Amino acid sequence: MKSDKLFLVIALAASCSHLPEVEVDSLGKGAQIPESLYGVFFEEITGSGDGGLYAEMVRGRGFEEGVIPSGCTLDAAGYAAAPLAPCYSNDSINAFKIPWAEDKDLEAWKVSGAGKWQITDKHPLNGATSHSLELQLEKGAITVENEGYWGMSIKGGECYDLSFYLRSAGVEECSASLIDAEGLELDSHRFETTGDGRWHQYSATFHPSESKDGCSLRLSFPQGGTAWLDFVSLFPESTYKGRSGGLRKDLAELIEDLHPAFVRWPGGCIVEGLTLANRVKWKETLGPVENRPGEYDLWGYRATYGLGYHEFLLFCEDIGSKAMFVCNAGMSCLFRNGDFVMGADLEPFIQDALDAIEYAIGDTDTEWGAKRAAVGHPEPFPLEYVEVGNENVFGRYVQNYNRFYSAIKERYPAIKVVSALMFSKDLEDISGADLIDPHYYEASPWFYDNADVFDKLPDDFPYKVYVGEYAAVDKRCMESALAEAAFLTGVERNSDKVQLVSYAPLMENAHFGRDHMIVFDSGTSYGRSNYQVLKLFAHNKPDYVLPLRINDPEQKVPFTPVGEVSVRENNACVEFNSLDVKNHGDTCTICFKALKKSGLQGWQVVFGQSGEGHCFMADYGSHSNESVLFREVSERGDVSLFDYRNQCPITTGVWHDVKVELAANHWTAWLDGDKVVDYHYLKVKRHYAVAGFKEDSGEIILKIVNGESTPWKFVLNLNTGASKGEIITLAAENGNDENSFEAPEKIAPKAYPFRYKGRKQTMECPANSLTIIKLNTKS
Ligand code: AHR
Repeated sequence: MKSDKLFLVIALAASCSHLPEVEVDSLGKGAQIPESLYGVFFEEITGSGDGGLYAEMVRGRGFEEGVIPSGCTLDAAGYAAAPLAPCYSNDSINAFKIPWAEDKDLEAWKVSGAGKWQITDKHPLNGATSHSLELQLEKGAITVENEGYWGMSIKGGECYDLSFYLRSAGVEECSASLIDAEGLELDSHRFETTGDGRWHQYSATFHPSESKDGCSLRLSFPQGGTAWLDFVSLFPESTYKGRSGGLRKDLAELIEDLHPAFVRWPGGCIVEGLTLANRVKWKETLGPVENRPGEYDLWGYRATYGLGYHEFLLFCEDIGSKAMFVCNAGMSCLFRNGDFVMGADLEPFIQDALDAIEYAIGDTDTEWGAKRAAVGHPEPFPLEYVEVGNENVFGRYVQNYNRFYSAIKERYPAIKVVSALMFSKDLEDISGADLIDPHYYEASPWFYDNADVFDKLPDDFPYKVYVGEYAAVDKRCMESALAEAAFLTGVERNSDKVQLVSYAPLMENAHFGRDHMIVFDSGTSYGRSNYQVLKLFAHNKPDYVLPLRINDPEQKVPFTPVGEVSVRENNACVEFNSLDVKNHGDTCTICFKALKKSGLQGWQVVFGQSGEGHCFMADYGSHSNESVLFREVSERGDVSLFDYRNQCPITTGVWHDVKVELAANHWTAWLDGDKVVDYHYLKVKRHYAVAGFKEDSGEIILKIVNGESTPWKFVLNLNTGASKGEIITLAAENGNDENSFEAPEKIAPKAYPFRYKGRKQTMECPANSLTIIKLNTKS
């Protein structure tokens, strides 16, 4: 058991002049921090919706799991193959396909007994759920069990609403029960069924008295006749805000507790689709759930869209967030099929986006506003942003985007339009955007090294930034959470330029084993350490930034790489020629010619290679041949890269002149006579801070990240007198520590009262910690 003392930021009485200083100009004023800053990104991925936030307990309720992705055909080799069409980015034929298993349609089901059964589309309940399970009971009884999302979690004393559709010929009864992992019944119901050959809905409520995990729903059919079963659904009555067929309470509350200023929906890559036809079609996510066809989700399972556009808007309203809707830009994901439409064929896509806006905020006498009112919501929803596409690039996107932009702005000038473009030359060709959307999936060292990435963004950069997706992906622990915290200090400091930020992916069913920010199984849930980090940032958002300096001569240490030099291909076939390495003692120049013959990326000039695997490199053709960058690979294999993308692709079939010049910590990379990267490498201590002021409470709010594994002792200089407040620490004994189902609060904030005796005070932040210091200047 750790003592609380360990986690307390120690305020030492005496000041120590040789210590580093964190100096805050508490009377100064930096960037205004918008209300919009901290939000969330929701995408149906790793069971975040189905088997997660959407409280449905039956998996595969409509027996539609075997339906291949829209736009694909099943080929002879058992692949769901996308149409052969040029990809929007470079006209290549991606011929995208995914293996399609034959037994998908009964994935979560176990059918047993003496009769026969099959999935059929002969007697559709409706066009949306056209398949059903046919049970031929002439030869014997059959039981049909659903394990839900890898075991249902049943809570004693709660109520569970069951509903299913049955079409029967000669079947006069059946029963339904909740069973535990040993097959013991927790509750059951018997139904008299109508054997008239037509579909009928049956429903009942279970009242289990015991709590059990690993449960299933069992439907039993006696011998005799034939029955068709469809749309089997089981919901807890206790949902978020008590809505029938609603959202799971614990997960909705975990999101709500982040106080997100906005929620983005529906994604992510699923907005684009693996084919254009496979994109999310919001209109198909409205209305009675049994009329929603769902769609194969490119993250590997069929999405029901029970949590559809209306439910998303309602959730935003419930938690006091603005809504951000993302529409397809007329192109599927370029890393999948990349098929696209332009010209007149784009019109329906633009109209679809306008209809989505009308559904959310249009008057009730408009076509789509009336549909919203018809389901009991005449008031407009808080839709504020529309993003056009996701991670799209290049000229065709720009052309399509510009048409969306004018159409949306013409009809809805108040809607903020987000371009999916990141930092790229394409930005020169767009006709406008309220925000652009760079994404950062990088290793933890990258986030530490690039916490100042937005300090470098020029003040006159023409677009505001929405960091739509970021995540330290090399590891999932306090060290990576603090790397993200370091990055967020830079976001907050520059929040006149970066106005919105959201982590991705937000949540996951532990079955997928990916460790996203919120982790859950059927019954329980917890936030990882980076959930706690984001929550602390969002809950302690000041109104404006206070100028802050870390005065530490040892904060950034010049460093000269020493070791071997080599040149190698990287995910491409490359011929090298005329290699010339000159070492002048303090400067090393590496020159050669390179011909990229084929492949996606290019080559790497590796330097400073030491025996332990640590090295640096100039990476030509990085990020799927987007850029030339310097990178560092640590002893553990973590890859960090320096500076943001510079859109400098390597052309195939052309001899290139390459030069890399290493002068101590000043490195330059050249391509065909042009200097394409100019970088000064400094080893940085993992100490970061940002300060701000909250006007209504009169509080100075300081966020301090210590990503080192030793405590950080420094002098805090607030240039102000004594005041009272509190310190909140989020700390881990070890950087590799993480929360888990067994210890969900291992890394959780702890708050202590604090008195700043001013003007200067020596402080100590624990190792591996985020510390929030709040001081009330009014006290
Ligand atoms: O967050 C997972 C995926 O990563 C998103 O769908 C996509 O936008 C990004 O590439």
